[in-house]
Amino acid sequence: MSIPSPVVRHFIDETDLTANEFRQILDSAIELKKERQQGVIRDSLRNKTLAMIFEKASTRTRTSFEAGMVQLGGHAINLSPTDSQLGRGEPIADTSRVLSEMVDAAMLRTHSHKTIEDFAHVSRIPVINGLSDRSHPCQLLADMQTLVELRGDIKGARIAWLGSGNNMCNSYITTARLLDFTLTIACPKELAPDNQLLTDCAAHVELYEDAESACKSADAVVTDVWASMGEEKYSNRLHSLLKPYQVTQALMNIASPDAVFMHCLPAHRGEEVTEEVIDGKRSVVWREAGNRLHAQKALLEFLLL
Ligand code: CP
Ligand code: NVA
Repeated sequence: MSIPSPVVRHFIDETDLTANEFRQILDSAIELKKERQQGVIRDSLRNKTLAMIFEKASTRTRTSFEAGMVQLGGHAINLSPTDSQLGRGEPIADTSRVLSEMVDAAMLRTHSHKTIEDFAHVSRIPVINGLSDRSHPCQLLADMQTLVELRGDIKGARIAWLGSGNNMCNSYITTARLLDFTLTIACPKELAPDNQLLTDCAAHVELYEDAESACKSADAVVTDVWASMGEEKYSNRLHSLLKPYQVTQALMNIASPDAVFMHCLPAHRGEEVTEEVIDGKRSVVWREAGNRLHAQKALLEFLLL
């Protein structure tokens, strides 16, 4: 008789969590942050190993996952396609089967979302999306933690998204529905987010072509780079389409008086945001980046314990 294997949970998109689980992770993240500030040592993931596969560059995601594992008593291994057999054509599914034998969780940053899905399909360990062309759910945990810390709750808030309907925008749309806030998107028609996603989340999304309408009474104004990783060859076209969506002080003044500015980083001052805004007093980007560490530690405990 075969023993049924325990159900493995993944975090490939925000909806892999229920709203309650998402909120529970945010609460744990806030607690973990407090513990770290107090110097409390925690070894909940002692002897656990996380494998990380990066097909694209990273500063925050790699550092926060690696430091997070160490701080919880575990360990992280970085497998770059150039120095692993992935670069020599070993199929992603075979890599997944092998890692399932050796480590406790895997984090992937890939060009194609399908690569993460193919990996997860045969995985016996939790799989985390560290960014794909489709979404960036780990960033949303950190962003929501930041807003909860500053506002108390996100339910009913108005968040403005300015720029491309890209992976980050998709994640904001999905999270707006999950956590019940309104996302006001200002975006050129040509770069509108996925139509099906907009339809599915219609009750939580307002789509505008002008930045001013999206920013009106917003509790937060959020943007991202004009050309995402992999889109560099369209840079000139993206720059000309997205120029009217630059986050300026004038736009911040249309938002709520206590509205914050957020950006997943890396940022390009003078492109998607002015220096005055990103380095100004309403910018919370450093807190937001720091929260990647705490939010992902909470996520790792949720998936692994
Ligand atoms: N925001 C974010 O994911 O940053 P990295 O690309 O540096 O990981
Ligand atoms: N949209 C950006 C996010 C970087 C964290 C990209 O995919 O490059």
